[in-house]
Formats: sequence, C-alpha cells, structure tokens
Amino acid sequence: MTLTRPPAHVKPLDRAFALEAVRVTEAAAIAAYAQIGRGNEHDADRAAVEAMRLAFNALPIQGTVVIGEGERDEAPMLFIGEKVGQGGLSVDIALDPLEGTTLTAKAMANALAVMAMAEPGTMLNAPDTYMDKIAIGPGFEEGLIDLDAEPGDNINALAKAKNCRADEITALVMDRPRHEALIAKIRKSGAKVKLITDGDVAGVIETTDPATNVDIYLGTGGAPEGVLAAAALRCVGGQMQGRLVFRNDDERARAAKWGVKDLTRKYGLYDLVAGDVVFSATGVTDGAMLRGVHRVGEFITTESVVMRSATGTVRWIRTRHCRGA
Ligand code: FBP
Repeated sequence: MTLTRPPAHVKPLDRAFALEAVRVTEAAAIAAYAQIGRGNEHDADRAAVEAMRLAFNALPIQGTVVIGEGERDEAPMLFIGEKVGQGGLSVDIALDPLEGTTLTAKAMANALAVMAMAEPGTMLNAPDTYMDKIAIGPGFEEGLIDLDAEPGDNINALAKAKNCRADEITALVMDRPRHEALIAKIRKSGAKVKLITDGDVAGVIETTDPATNVDIYLGTGGAPEGVLAAAALRCVGGQMQGRLVFRNDDERARAAKWGVKDLTRKYGLYDLVAGDVVFSATGVTDGAMLRGVHRVGEFITTESVVMRSATGTVRWIRTRHCRGA
C-alpha cells in the first residue's frame, strides 16, 4: 500500500518559515553564480554548500539534515544528521545546495538551489542511491499512474484523463543509457520524449506547470532528489511514486542504516514526505521554472519559488540583493 493522503495528524509549520526558507536557497544560488561556466563541479558545489550552511545557521530553527551532502565521513558540511540553526522550531531538512553541478559548471540551463523543511520524522531518509520515479501534475484521479505499469499504459491512462491522444503527451526523461528501453517504449506508445541531461527535481516539478507542456516524468534518478521533488509536489499537488534502486550490497546496507526496512517498497507521495512541508528553490542558471542569478549593475538578482503544503500557497519571489551587503 502506498500512502496517497496525509496521515491523520499533521501539524502545520509556522508560516514565517516560508520566507526564511527563501533566504537559504538564495544564498546558495548566489554563491554558485561565481562558478557558472568555470568547468569545476566541485568548486561550484562547495560554494553553494558553504553559503547554504551559513544561511541555515542564521535561522531560528533547530534543524536536522536528513537529506544532505552525504554521510558524515564523506561530507564536511551539511552531512546527514548535522544540526543547523540557532535553536527554535524543530524541523527536518532535505537539501541540495546545487541541484545540477554539471549544469552550473557548463553554464547550462536549469541548475537550482533547493531545500525542504518538514515536521521532524516525516521525510523519507533516502540513502544516496537511485530511485525509480513516476510523477504527474495535479487534477487527476488518485491512482491514475502506477510505477509498476508499462509506460504505454500510464501514457494511455493519462491521455484518456486529459481527453487527448497519446501522441499529444510529452514524457520527461533523463538522457541516460539506462533509459534506452524506457524511451523506446514511450515513443512506441506515440508519446513525445523530452530529454534532460541533469536536474530531475526541476524535471518532476515541470509536470505540475501546464506552460512547460510536460505531462509525465518517468525514469531513474537520485533518491534524495526524489524526496525533494516529492516535497514540491506535496505543495503544488500532483502524484508521484518511487522505489529505491540498489546497484550493490553497500547501497543496500546504507539504506538499512537509514531505517529502510523493505528495500523493494513502492513509496507514494505521502510516504516520501508525510508531514507539513515548506519547499524553496532558487534558480542558479536560467531554466524552465526559474530565471537564474544575474548581475545587474550594482545588484544581484535572484528568482525563487517557495511553497507551503499547509495552504498550497506558491510564491514567486524576485529579489534584488545589494552586492557586498
Ligand atoms: P548533481 O547536482 O549532484 O550533479 O545531480 C544532478 C542529477 O542530474 C540529479 O538531478 C539526478 O537525480 C541525478 O543527478 C541523476 O544521477 P546520474 O547523473 O548518476 O544519472
């Protein structure tokens, strides 16, 4: 059974945190800006991580990183289990200071700084493995899509629900050799395939925005990114399912360490993020969802989106930052 509704008791997070959240992703995006196009993924990520950590530590929260830069022994900062904030409201945090390190290093579209804060204990502690994912936007009958169904069946069900033909459906898939068979099946169903090189948090979110023309996300990407995308869908609506994918015993052991008992479990949206959640993303490079960081004279401009699941409010925030302030 996958969870498709909120558990009985969900406490809303303080609404003030929605705006605090934006400061965190803005800081990471601005720090990454200096690294756009420099061909150095590592430096780009490090700049974003350091800035995001500083920003978190200025917040009145008692935060625990549950999805972070890696385990304590492999990530010097924002590792899983790290405590951040000045003290206050207890929250669990899922973060990716730079979602699209390669996109940033190569000055390609769609790099983001992202994070989600939720009630403690309510986000899947996803290990750093892959996850099979399927997602669609809001407005459809629950259970319309199924991770275990054939891609063609999901596409036909979606086309029927949208009252269109399968060849009018666009599926977004990461451009990876592992998706060769999946892409062939999607094309066989008649649907179009939009390929992305990286950044499947934004990819999943595209399904929720009719302006993108993306109807469904299919394929395997990072499991941490799956939880972040689920956090966004919890706020804007939509359906998502995921299942962890393991390449070796080490990955299985990691999952067990983070409390995953059933390694083959199919997760529903509310299994991925059960509690009330705030999601924030700031564009690093220009993208389908957000404009990236730009320098305009004496100012730096950013564009962010911040969402709350408690109300479904989605705020688009364009900010002008004084350089050096
Ligand atoms: P990074 O920002 O860590 O480079 O991740 C980008 C990303 O494209 C994710 O959006 C996606 O989930 C994952 O990498 C896919 O992994 P892989 O590149 O191994 O296929």
